[in-house]
Amino acid sequence: MQTIDDVQTALGEQGYICGRSLATVVFLSQTLGRPLFLEGEAGTGKTEIAKAIAASLGRRLIRLQCYEGLDASSALYEWNFAEQMIAIRTAEAAGGADRAALKSELFTEEFLIERPLLQAMRPQPGGAPVLLIDEIDRTDEPFEAFLLEALSDFQVTIPELGTIKAPQAPIVILTSNRTREVHDALKRRCLYHWVDYPDFDREMEILAARAPDASLALSREVVAFVQRLRGEDLFKKPGVAETIDWAKCLLALDVINLSPEVISDTLGAILKYQDDIQALQGSAAKRILDEARADLDAA
Ligand SMILES: Nc1ncnc2c1ncn2[C@@H]1O[C@H](COP(=O)(O)OP(=O)(O)OP(=O)(O)O)[C@@H](O)[C@H]1O
Ligand SMILES: [Mg+2]
Repeated sequence: MQTIDDVQTALGEQGYICGRSLATVVFLSQTLGRPLFLEGEAGTGKTEIAKAIAASLGRRLIRLQCYEGLDASSALYEWNFAEQMIAIRTAEAAGGADRAALKSELFTEEFLIERPLLQAMRPQPGGAPVLLIDEIDRTDEPFEAFLLEALSDFQVTIPELGTIKAPQAPIVILTSNRTREVHDALKRRCLYHWVDYPDFDREMEILAARAPDASLALSREVVAFVQRLRGEDLFKKPGVAETIDWAKCLLALDVINLSPEVISDTLGAILKYQDDIQALQGSAAKRILDEARADLDAA
């Protein structure tokens, strides 16, 4: 990918619709070899872009899904204790295991469980993999500090095996839903982009790529409605994922045009909290639909 346009085209071929500013940071992160830090609302395409980048480059995608309590060994490597125990028992049963020999046999690659960060340091067919560190805001600060170090040199020393170093640094993408601020030290290493909800035109393009069977008329109403809905006071606003889901639900129901009744019957596809659904029942759905239609007429 030699230019920003190339990035947009290549991702578009994977069904990922990418605005100019996002394409620019993707391009720069690849050109400069810097990790890309994507923050934004839920369901706005942060995880998906890593998949699209890997597919467009023909690289393997390795995903480290973060969660509360994730520690270095679950991210990097672990010894397979169960297998080691079996090997010890087997050696004992065979009689008179030589302790020193056994020890050197137990700490070999055969008993090593490689977790995502170590996998990302291994040579891969097709070139350096894409390493997706997803939802980093769910981990804690000690893990962030560990990650910072791992990202700086892509090498690990396993006392029993020696040092393993990535032949070529992976393409790193970090995502966060901003449930907490990620530390400056980590952000400073990365190129940053806030992934916002798409505007009407871009969301239409995304829908055309992801739900191509939906008619233009229905897609326009769906997108206009969701765009309006995001302006409402909701506990959890619908993301792009919800727009796509909703369009698919409406297609399955053979809906040709939105109506307040159809909307209220299918709200579960776009809103996932009972309070939000309740707020939309009745007159609110009709009001928002009228506003959305007015937007379409004005455009
Ligand atoms: N720009 C886009 N182009 C194509 N599809 C998109 C785009 N943005 C989002 N999508 C669709 O929305 C779905 C959800 O996107 P994704 O899972 O990447 O969101 P996310 O930002 O990672 O959300 P979360 O914070 O909930 O993990 C994807 O499966 C994809 O189909
Ligand atoms: Mg995600």
